Amino acid sequence: MENKKFYVTTPIYYPSGKFHIGTAYTTVLADTFKKYKKLRGFDSYLLTGTDEHGQKIQTIAENSNVEPQEYVDKIASQAKELWLKMNIEYDDFIRTTEERHVVIVQKIFEYFLEKGDIYKGIYEGMYCVPCETYFTEKQLIEGKCPDCGREVTLMKEEAYFFNMKNYAERLIKLYEETDFIIPEYKKSEMINNFLKPGLEDLCVTRTSFKWGINVKSDENHVIYVWLDALTNYITALGYLSEDKTLFNKYWPADLQIVGKDIARFHLIYWPIFLMALDLPLPKKILVHNWFMMKEGKMSKSKGNVIYPETLIDRYGLDATKYFLLRELPLHQDGVFSPEGFIQRFNSDLCNDLGNLLNRTIGMINKYFKGNIYNYNGQKNEGDKKLEEFTNLQHNKIQLAMDNYEVVTALTEIWNLISKTNKYIDETSPWVLAKEGEEDKLKSVMYHLVENLRKIAIYLTPFMQDTKDSIFRQLGINENLQTWESLIDYTKIPENTKVVKQGEPLFLRLEKEEEINYLKNQINLL
Ligand code: ME8
Ligand code: MG
Repeated sequence: MENKKFYVTTPIYYPSGKFHIGTAYTTVLADTFKKYKKLRGFDSYLLTGTDEHGQKIQTIAENSNVEPQEYVDKIASQAKELWLKMNIEYDDFIRTTEERHVVIVQKIFEYFLEKGDIYKGIYEGMYCVPCETYFTEKQLIEGKCPDCGREVTLMKEEAYFFNMKNYAERLIKLYEETDFIIPEYKKSEMINNFLKPGLEDLCVTRTSFKWGINVKSDENHVIYVWLDALTNYITALGYLSEDKTLFNKYWPADLQIVGKDIARFHLIYWPIFLMALDLPLPKKILVHNWFMMKEGKMSKSKGNVIYPETLIDRYGLDATKYFLLRELPLHQDGVFSPEGFIQRFNSDLCNDLGNLLNRTIGMINKYFKGNIYNYNGQKNEGDKKLEEFTNLQHNKIQLAMDNYEVVTALTEIWNLISKTNKYIDETSPWVLAKEGEEDKLKSVMYHLVENLRKIAIYLTPFMQDTKDSIFRQLGINENLQTWESLIDYTKIPENTKVVKQGEPLFLRLEKEEEINYLKNQINLL
């Protein structure tokens, strides 16, 4: 049998403060794909972690009067707590201060130096301290940092450089020959903004701060963040270490997910580092957009930040994840607004999904004392139409997930939910009951349970408590919770019984009250 594997990564996050919903988004997205691939029978491996070196972290630690290591230890353990709370099934959590990472980064550096990919020179440039990035004059916007808009300073230092220019042509060729970038248009963005104007060599060391990995052969220099950070994706698997089992099994990555602000590093420098190491490139790199607030970027100084805990503690994990995954389109930024959140909750989760389950359980109890009767082939027109529609949805949902399009997948799952709700209205079970059409009524109930079972399977990568509750309330056992069992309409055994009293999946929210609650949490009142 083919040994299918799936290696997915998140960026490693800066432990520069508490994680907001933007950071949580990247991780939830990666976790969703991991769970989907697991459901499809892949041997799946999810890597996340923290990017702990650099000037910014050193400064934050100094300001709070602790050693950098102590500071990053604290944030890394907070991050792990958050992922636990969010039911993120990561397989490894790499921290760039760990020995296993440090020694391999040093090896890689020396190897590049020997090969001539890295050379020593003088660096001079406009530097943005908070972003830890040098910019060329023409990249600045009105003399300020193009990423954060703050003041930049002219800095000059002896430094090592990675000869990116050597690889520029190979990279362009790679762009032409492969489609490893999602969405497509990011490719031309990279070509027009960075490759055509001429790729600059990348400065890979600093002498201006100490909190980083030392260059073995030149101890005054520390390796500057991107060479240190990007290599985490392979050091975590044991690349160049004694035990290469994981590396041999999982590299190249199948999917690497990054936000748009770090696209350049992952679409240009990362493939070039890999070429220089003679390693295969990741199969796909997915670049996602950002969650904005109505008044623009989330920022701590404006105080308009929303934390995942705020949403989870009040509305539950599943509603939080549903909102995040449903509201960020592939081609533009998404907006977090209290109104939008409450709207999705009440309309999609309570009305559409919750009511479908409740109505179904209520009717099966009322008409058949909770028993589900196996459908015996007496299909009427409405049943046939529903089956056809559901089969079409299956292909759409599966294709969207295989293409890493979660918004499309969720939209199609909700189309299936709506259609199934409509099927109740169209078949009017209460009329069938009144007219004594028992066979037809059994068939309608059977089809409703089947569709809910399928919906719960589709929701498995997204909402674990919700799918568990649906399966439990309908009495669906484990072998009918698999992706393979989606195929036909004849699966539910005769002795299946739904619970006596349905439990609501989501409790309807009082709109005004909750909008005020959320505005308060985000300091928007
Ligand atoms: O960049 N909406 O770490 P980081 C959606 N250490 N996503 C957002 C967001 C928002 N409002 N704000 C941030 C780093 N993100 C580096 C990565 S990888 C080798 C090194 C995303 O903590 C952002 O796009 O600043 C990025 O993918 C991640 O959160 C956090 O980045
Ligand atoms: Mg950032």
